[in-house]
Amino acid sequence: MSRRLPITVVGSINRDIVVHYDTLPRIGETVFGEHLSFGHGGKGANQAFAASRLGGDVAMVGRVGQDEYGALACRVLATEGCAVAGVRTLGDLSGQALVLVGRDAGNRILVIKGANGQFTARELERDAALLARGGLVLLQLEIPLETVVLAAEKARAGSARVLLDPAPAIALPLELLQVIDILTPNQTELAALTGRAPASHAEVIEAAQQLRAQGPGAVIVKMGAEGCLLLDANGPRRFAAPAVEAIDTTGAGDCFNAALAVSLAEDASLADACRFAVVAASLSVTRQGAQASAPQRVEVEELLARVTTGSVQIRRR
Ligand code: RIB
Repeated sequence: MSRRLPITVVGSINRDIVVHYDTLPRIGETVFGEHLSFGHGGKGANQAFAASRLGGDVAMVGRVGQDEYGALACRVLATEGCAVAGVRTLGDLSGQALVLVGRDAGNRILVIKGANGQFTARELERDAALLARGGLVLLQLEIPLETVVLAAEKARAGSARVLLDPAPAIALPLELLQVIDILTPNQTELAALTGRAPASHAEVIEAAQQLRAQGPGAVIVKMGAEGCLLLDANGPRRFAAPAVEAIDTTGAGDCFNAALAVSLAEDASLADACRFAVVAASLSVTRQGAQASAPQRVEVEELLARVTTGSVQIRRR
């Protein structure tokens, strides 16, 4: 490997409380769940963890509460080799997420922000040095928007490439879109950000074009089992996903962004980084949990080689 740019993740850190269910209760109804577990999550921490596991040179910037979970979250990230000097304690409670996973492997998530919600732009100034080191900066939307905007501006000023995962989706100000290099909505977020409900690949491309016209150099739409669609100056390209048996899609989008960043940090083209990211995310959905489902580098490379040689089935529409 000739070079490996640093990756800085600015974002949320959550304890995940995961409930597997068969039937969702209606209002006024009580039903039994299938299984309860606790895991390590938060869209920011998931990206930092997966990128570290895939071999990235990663630093996490975030806030946790003074509770036991905050210290544990840092230890878990550090175990994968992620630098955690930018994770500071703020307030009492770390972020918590109630993750409901159905038999179809889909998830519904309710987040209590905790310390993530107190991570203001002023707080971020304490970690400005980490944003000045260039490389790639990964952002999501589980911390205050003003902090995301400042992080993107500082990253740009430090010549970093800025990736924004617009999750959970909220209206994005132009000042933010204009300092984003790569925007990575899933299809739900694409619909929320454009006010359209794209039903075909052609409509997904149109919606991605609408977003790209507002500033980002590239828009990558994460399409789950359909792989992803990359729209950049070279036009639209789709990257199919290998057929896998999905059991839990929690954190798959985070794994995608992590793998994309690791590949770009190693000087891959956007197209090659998309191929790598689609395969990494496909592996992650075959396991339970958010951080717990992040694949090892060797697994991604092996499956990618099989995909490239055509020895593994690719989903096509
Ligand atoms: O993207 C999955 C993550 O969303 C979960 O880990 C949960 O913590 C929420 O942040």
